[in-house]
Amino acid sequence: MSKGDIIIEARDIVKRYYIGKPNELEILHGISLTVREGEFVAIVGASGSGKSTLMNIIGVLDKPTEGSYILDNINVMKSRDDELSEIRNKKIGFIFQTYNLIARTSALKNVELPMMYARMPGWKRKKRARELMQLVEMEDRMNHAPDELSGGQKQRVAIARAMANDPALLLADEPTGALDSKTGRMVMDIFHRLHKEQGKTIVLITHSPELAEECERILTLSDGMFIGERKGKNHAPS
Ligand SMILES: Nc1ncnc2c1ncn2[C@@H]1O[C@H](COP(=O)(O)OP(=O)(O)OP(=O)(O)O)[C@@H](O)[C@H]1O
Ligand SMILES: [Mg+2]
Repeated sequence: MSKGDIIIEARDIVKRYYIGKPNELEILHGISLTVREGEFVAIVGASGSGKSTLMNIIGVLDKPTEGSYILDNINVMKSRDDELSEIRNKKIGFIFQTYNLIARTSALKNVELPMMYARMPGWKRKKRARELMQLVEMEDRMNHAPDELSGGQKQRVAIARAMANDPALLLADEPTGALDSKTGRMVMDIFHRLHKEQGKTIVLITHSPELAEECERILTLSDGMFIGERKGKNHAPS
């Protein structure tokens, strides 16, 4: 995989929920999205427009009702559940608004967990977890449990955890939504660093127009459809 290769190729994605047939509810009405290796893309849109629903499909946490989806050259529509867990573990790093760290487990152990699932040897994952904690400037809080950390600190740990298996893709759903603007700024700067220094591909959902503007490409979702695409100020010169 090299810069410019297609990493997300989703075509005509439809998502329906069946709340006691025939009351079906169509949330996504045929979404197509292409993201290339190394891109930093923002998805914006009103509450309820389907951003998280789409993100969960991109992150193979959920399957579309219709459409096709190729992730990093894998046709995930045809993958078995055990293959999907492996794909999530190895290829995708998730960051959520509410951090989703494991309680009563040290920050360092939280970062080690995805590497444990990937069966990385103990010494290697401990070393990498420490390096990742340094990367997010959390080395002095490694042994704290999540409830002993501030929101911004928890989110930095969550980013370190998302990076554990060096995923092809970082998916962040409102990562700054629960943070004040200064702390949100710090978290956003980590994404910029991962993008610039490590060439990470990042898809970011945000309600903040300012943060969206900092990405390379901004897609606007409205009522389950993309209604606009524009370049952000970080757009690479072509
Ligand atoms: N499991 C479900 N069953 C039925 N409807 C659902 C389900 N999950 C989500 N929805 C509906 O899908 C719509 C889109 O929800 P989604 O969470 O994707 O919105 P969002 O754009 O992420 O909003 P927000 O900005 O508030 O996070 C909402 O109307 C929601 O009620
Ligand atoms: Mg959402």
